[in-house]
Amino acid sequence: MLLCGIFGCISSCAPRVIADGLKRLEYRGYDSVGVAFISGGKLVLEKDKGMIDPFVRRLGLSNMSAGIEIGIGHTRWATHGAPCKENAHPHLDCTGTIAVAHNGVLENFLEIKEALIKRGHRFASTTDTEIIPHLIEEGIQEGLSLKSAAARAAKMIRGSMAIAVLSSAQPGTIVCVKRESPLVIGVGKNGSYCASDIAALMPYTDTILQLEDDQVATITRAGPSIETIDGKPVKPKFTKVRWDAGMAERGGYPHFMLKEMHEQPIALRDTLKLPSAFLERASRMMEGRVYLTGSGTSYHACLASSYAFSKLFCMDIRPVYSSEFQDLLCDLRGNTVIGVSQSGETADTLGALRHAKSKGARVIGITNTLSSSITALSDTYICTQGGPEIGVAATKTFLTQLVAMDQLMLHAASVANKLPEGVCSKLFEQLNGVPSLVERVIGQLDAVRPIAQKYFSRRSAYFLARGINVATAMEGALKLKELSYMHAEGYPAGESKHGPISLVEDGFLCVFIAPNDSSRGRIIGNMMEMKARGAKIFAVITEGDKELKLIADDTFEVPPVPEFLNPVVYTVPLQAFAYHVAVLRGLDPDKPRNLAKSVTVM
Ligand code: G6P
Repeated sequence: MLLCGIFGCISSCAPRVIADGLKRLEYRGYDSVGVAFISGGKLVLEKDKGMIDPFVRRLGLSNMSAGIEIGIGHTRWATHGAPCKENAHPHLDCTGTIAVAHNGVLENFLEIKEALIKRGHRFASTTDTEIIPHLIEEGIQEGLSLKSAAARAAKMIRGSMAIAVLSSAQPGTIVCVKRESPLVIGVGKNGSYCASDIAALMPYTDTILQLEDDQVATITRAGPSIETIDGKPVKPKFTKVRWDAGMAERGGYPHFMLKEMHEQPIALRDTLKLPSAFLERASRMMEGRVYLTGSGTSYHACLASSYAFSKLFCMDIRPVYSSEFQDLLCDLRGNTVIGVSQSGETADTLGALRHAKSKGARVIGITNTLSSSITALSDTYICTQGGPEIGVAATKTFLTQLVAMDQLMLHAASVANKLPEGVCSKLFEQLNGVPSLVERVIGQLDAVRPIAQKYFSRRSAYFLARGINVATAMEGALKLKELSYMHAEGYPAGESKHGPISLVEDGFLCVFIAPNDSSRGRIIGNMMEMKARGAKIFAVITEGDKELKLIADDTFEVPPVPEFLNPVVYTVPLQAFAYHVAVLRGLDPDKPRNLAKSVTVM
C-alpha cells in the first residue's frame, strides 16, 4: 500500500518530532494532514485539508512545549472520500478517547460500517478507516486491552492496513497492526517510534524492526513487544540500517523510478481492491458509444483497453488522443467519455472532457489523484491506487490504469449480461492473478541490464507488436525516448514494411513484443524482414519459446499471460530497458529534460 504516511512517537517534544516525521513522509501523500496527542491525560486531535507545512506553522507544532510525550500523525492521499478536514486522519471512536491513523484500503468497510451504525455508532467521515476506532471501542467496552481490541478489529476487517492507535485510557502506549501496508518500528536513545518507512526514522535511530503481516506491536518508550494477530508472542528482530535519508526515502533504490517499478505488484493489488460500488456506478453509465481519452502514457492505457474491450466483448470503444479530441468529435449526445489521467490535471485531457460535456456526453474520470480537477469535472470517477509517483515517467500508474479499466470493463460486461457468468468469473480470476505475474517479472529484471548495455549507445529504435501489444510497444518507445533521449518509435508490426523499414540498416535496434499467441506467426514474419536488413532483435517473449530465442539476438522471457492482460506484464521489462539505457548514458531517469509530471498547458 503506497498511499498515505503514518508517524508515531513516544519521546519528549512529540509534536515537533511528529511534524518532522510527517514532512519526511510527504512524498507518500499530501492532500490532508492530522495529529493526535495525549496532553494532560486527554486525547487532543488536530487535522485539516492541505499540505503539512502550513498546518504545522498554524498550530505551532514545531515549537510546542515539552510535556507532550506521545502522539501519532498522518499525511493523506485520498482514496475513500474527498480530501477534506473530516476525512483527514486520525479518526476517533464515539467516546473521543481512541485515535487511529491508517494507511491501506479496507474492502469490507461498508458492511461493517452499516452494522456499527445499527449498533448506535456515529460517523464523522466518509473514509473506510473510521470503522477501526469504533471496532476498537467495542472491544474495550467488552473488557479487552487496547492491543487485543486492535487485533480483534484487524481480524474482522478484510484489506490492507498499517495502523497506529492511541488511547487516553492507556496513555504511554501506541498499538500498531500491519497487513500488506508497510510499517517500521524504531528504538532510539530518546524514545520509540513507528512510521510508514525508514526514511522518516533516520534522524532518530538506525535500529529498525520491520513489522510483518498480521503482527501487532505494543510500543512503549522502552520499545515494542510483538505478537501475532492471534496473540502468539514474537521475538522482535531489530536490524541496523546504514542508509542516508535520501536513500531511505527511495526505499534503498538509487532512483524513484526503480522504486516505483518495484512497487507495481502492490499498486496493482491495491487497485484490484477498488470497492465494487465505484465500479458499478461507472459501469452503469457506459451506454451509447464509449470513447477513451488521455495523453502520453495515459493514452497508451486507453489504446490497450480499447483492444481489450473489443476483443473480449466485441464492443467498439474508440481511443482518442485528448489533444485531438475536440477536433475529431462534435456530437456526443447519449455517449460516454472516459478520461484517463494520472495527475488529473493534464490540460489536454481536461479540455477534452470539458468539450465532451458541452457536447452532451457523460464523463467518467480515471485518475490517481482524488483531489484533482478531473474528479471535479467528471460525473463519476474511479481512483487508481498507485500512490504518489515521483519519477516523471509514469510506471506504476500506467499499470494501475490498465487494471482499473479492466475491472470497469468486466463490471460493465456483467451489468449488461454480455458474458456468461462462468466466463466473467474466469476473467476476474485472471485479473486477480496479474500482480503475481508482474512480481515474477520484476524478480527477473536483472537480466535486462546486460541487454541495455549492448544497445545503450544506439541512435534509434523501433518497438513493434501486434494487437493489444501495439499499446505496449508505444509505451516502451515512449519510456525509452523520455528517459534516454534515444529516438524511438512504437508501431504496429504490420505497418513496419509500409515506411519505417526504410531506416533499417546493419545494427538497427528493433524491440519486438512477441507473446506466444495468435499473432506470433505474423510477428516472426516481421522479425525476419528486419533481420534480413541487418536489424538486431531484442524480443520480449513467452517463457520457453525456443524458436524465438533462436531468431532474436536477445530475449527476455515472461510467464504466459492472458491476452487482455498482456500490456500489464510486457511493459515491465521495457520500463527496465529504458531505465538502464538512461543510467548507462549518464542521465537521471527521475528527471528527464523538458518534461513535467503534470502538463497544465494545452
Ligand atoms: C506528461 C508526462 C507523461 C504523462 C502525460 C499525461 O506529458 O510527462 O508521462 O503520461 O503527461 O499525464 P496524466 O497525468 O494526464 O496521466
